[in-house]
Amino acid sequence: MTKPIRLLGLILLVASCCYWSACDPAPTPPADDNDTIDIEAEIDSLMSQLTLEEKVRMIHASSAFTSGGVERLGIPELIMSDGPHGVRHEHGRDWIKDEGVRDSSTYLPVGTALAATWNPELGYAFGSVLGSEANYRQKDIILGPGLNIIRSPLNGRNFEYLTEDPYLNARMTVGYVKGVQDQGVAACAKHYVANNLEYEREMVNVEMSDRALREIYLPGFKAAVQEGGTYTVMAAYNKFRGDYCAHSEYLLDTILKMEYGFDGAVISDWNAVKNTMEAVNAGIDLEMGSDLPMLATGNVDYSKFHMGDTVVTLVNNGTVDEALIDKKVRRLLRTIFRVNAIGERAPGAYNTPEHQQVARDIADEAIVLLKNEGLLPLNEGETQSIAVVGANATRKHAGGGGSSQVKAYYEVTPLEGLQNLMGDKADISYAEGYVVEKGGGSNSDLIAAAVEQVTQADVAIYVGGYIHGYSDEWNDNAYDAEATDKPDMLLPFGQDELIEAVLAANPNTIIVLMGGGPVDMQRWQSQAKTIVQAWYPGMEGGNALADVLFGNVNPSGKLPMTFPVKLEDSPAHSLAVTGFESLEQDYTEGIFVGYRYFDSYEVEPAFAFGHGLSYTTFTYENIAVEKKDNTVVVSVNVTNSGDRDGAEVVQLYVNDNESALPRPAQELKAFQKVELTAGATERVEFTLGEDAFSYYDDTQGKWVLEHGTFTIKLGSSSRDIRQEGNIEW
Ligand code: GLC
Repeated sequence: MTKPIRLLGLILLVASCCYWSACDPAPTPPADDNDTIDIEAEIDSLMSQLTLEEKVRMIHASSAFTSGGVERLGIPELIMSDGPHGVRHEHGRDWIKDEGVRDSSTYLPVGTALAATWNPELGYAFGSVLGSEANYRQKDIILGPGLNIIRSPLNGRNFEYLTEDPYLNARMTVGYVKGVQDQGVAACAKHYVANNLEYEREMVNVEMSDRALREIYLPGFKAAVQEGGTYTVMAAYNKFRGDYCAHSEYLLDTILKMEYGFDGAVISDWNAVKNTMEAVNAGIDLEMGSDLPMLATGNVDYSKFHMGDTVVTLVNNGTVDEALIDKKVRRLLRTIFRVNAIGERAPGAYNTPEHQQVARDIADEAIVLLKNEGLLPLNEGETQSIAVVGANATRKHAGGGGSSQVKAYYEVTPLEGLQNLMGDKADISYAEGYVVEKGGGSNSDLIAAAVEQVTQADVAIYVGGYIHGYSDEWNDNAYDAEATDKPDMLLPFGQDELIEAVLAANPNTIIVLMGGGPVDMQRWQSQAKTIVQAWYPGMEGGNALADVLFGNVNPSGKLPMTFPVKLEDSPAHSLAVTGFESLEQDYTEGIFVGYRYFDSYEVEPAFAFGHGLSYTTFTYENIAVEKKDNTVVVSVNVTNSGDRDGAEVVQLYVNDNESALPRPAQELKAFQKVELTAGATERVEFTLGEDAFSYYDDTQGKWVLEHGTFTIKLGSSSRDIRQEGNIEW
């Protein structure tokens, strides 16, 4: 489908260098156009022709998901769509869902699942699918990736994000952004910054030290800008140090645009702009979503936005310098040209087997084997009967969670996946086990039925965990969902009682948990021989889970966040002094987020950051650490010492033996995922720059590298260190 070509001869070179030697069938970028234009010259030309009224029309929404265009000059609206793991269904121009359109799309695994692969090449493939389907759906901007640091297990939107660690956040973001943008679509790094909970998200004010800001919460966005080249960034709802993020000159101008060199457009979260003068003076370039409060009145008027017609009046009466508006318009025009919104849009592809294969590949590598005392892998030939228990075995998740919802083209549930793989080889029974209902507790009849079933089967598989909401509607977002946080870490719907009963009936029951993050497993973790974390694994998740359970796929997933034993162990709930439900959020735990806290304060997690088992084993030998000019080269032999091919994520942590300011016990500074056939050995090498040893000294306002001894740790997780070596810097 072609957008009308309104500016003659405008054909863009869409950067199509494929970012990664993609190991997956990532959609190839659209062919380069040979003709290129000088975008800045085109912008200059349009700026000289635009009237003030036309400029102001461009800096606010023209509908639910479009920015204002200027028909007279052939400047199109920018068309946006959620979300981070699939192109959302059509919303229409005024939040009235378009019916009868072809808007069921590829439902990819969620952000935490992608991060659990620790595979940046899959990040690129993920982004490529998203960009290709956005093209097909005629979208210029896909509103993802979600980069907010996973600070508390309770945050409702953790599932949309990636990790607790800034380095892993950056690595997984860059490929994603480049994958989207190599398709000619803009990515949108969100929500900038410190939107780490959903409680009163439009009112909460976040305070934190400069160290925490620079070392933990900004690096993902910095990488999105400076390495990923993201065309847009979304300003978060919350306040930061008293200013709304959408009005913060410190965040938007000083850091993002001036220090990081971001030259794209800052889009507000929907209805995040609250004040005209603050928005005009700060680096917010496009106001979206201020129609939301108008919907209830039945009178939506886009000219009445904070950056609407009132700005024309303010410029004309000399209150506002038109140059401020020009700066915003230039960035929007730059985005319009970059996404080729004027020229021939790439056709994209939709719901293709290739896209579904990428979803499957990511799910395969995302599933984390947390514990395995001999039950897995299952043997297809020896399995005559399988008892499947749990409502999440048949539940579909794509449509829930809020704005990240996807109308999935299909979604294979865990039960369907097992039926697909084993339906003709084994008798598969199913018992619901628990009921998904608001405030629902355990159900003794369902428990009795489940117990009877698992007692008689060769294999028992429990599938439980969290859900997004009770339906696909906003008003019952319950657990892993937008605009709500979890009440606690406990499994809902009486699952603990059910799991205890099922394990008592059949100790060989395999426990599979779905969800965006950890649950409190204290009541049954020691009884369970095998525990698997499956996240929300996307449309192919059921097939991937079956393949992992039966060993067709050797699990290689690693936790991208710490799983605490209990909520009180989490630093956001122990070290931080402000309660979680408080409009004043002071991140007093500072840089001690996730494993940085657990390792430094010697708190034992249920499962550590970076943890994930395999069906084979890996040994690490002969570490070497040597200084080469301004780098440190670290190498180690990794051997697949088992009898099955597999992939290992070799993680490199750095410990600063002595520092002027407190530093975490260790910090992830590199990793590599290596695939090794049984018995094979590979020498894995890392080259570390000064940044791997530096920290942000907020007493001096700069990054510092102090001389002294650093310990390099190589391991299979943050708590499974296999080799160490020291270096003097
Ligand atoms: C929502 C979300 C944001 C989403 C936007 C548009 O409130 O915070 O992530 O992209 O509005 O739906």
